[in-house]
Amino acid sequence: LKLGVMASGSGSNFEAIAQAIADQKLKAQVQVLLYNNPGAKAAARAEQWGIPSVLLNHREFANREALDAAIVETLQQHDVEWVIMAGWMRIVTPVLINAFPRRILNIHPSLLPSFKGNRAVEQALAAGVKITGCTVHRVVTEVDSGDIIVQAAVPVLPDDTLETLHDRIHIQEHRIFPQAIALAAQGQ
Ligand code: GRF
Repeated sequence: LKLGVMASGSGSNFEAIAQAIADQKLKAQVQVLLYNNPGAKAAARAEQWGIPSVLLNHREFANREALDAAIVETLQQHDVEWVIMAGWMRIVTPVLINAFPRRILNIHPSLLPSFKGNRAVEQALAAGVKITGCTVHRVVTEVDSGDIIVQAAVPVLPDDTLETLHDRIHIQEHRIFPQAIALAAQGQ
């Protein structure tokens, strides 16, 4: 599987995928890391892994479609087959989605369909749910709404803050994302 990973920030999920590949738990390779924020920690991780990285700064594009066209071009240049959105904090358009039909996966820090959008962990805490989690799903034009591939449940503990809860969710994300890539590629 030739993967292209897209990340906006820390890139710990990107690194978990690279590690699963290194450990031969996932038969794949990361062809390229795309990132949109200059200085994103994900780019430093890519360098340490010897994975090429490309900055596509959304601030330099006229609109979402123009950014996505540059993303598609970069992914195709790197021979990417599967697109892995690992903390990509931009809404994507049909320009990207239609270029890789059914071959774009995203990870989201809640048990979808609960708590869609970019404040999922905060909303779970505010709602007082006792169980939340994370979801790997296919990307469709409606945000956080495609087919669910894998989910993991995570308890919300009485003293949790945004940070402690998100840390606990991250541990499960790192576990299920490589699994979900393999399952999706097998057509499951
Ligand atoms: C993850 O919690 C993911 O679910 C959300 O953004 C976060 C990215 O974390 N979409 P990282 O950059 O992989 O550490």
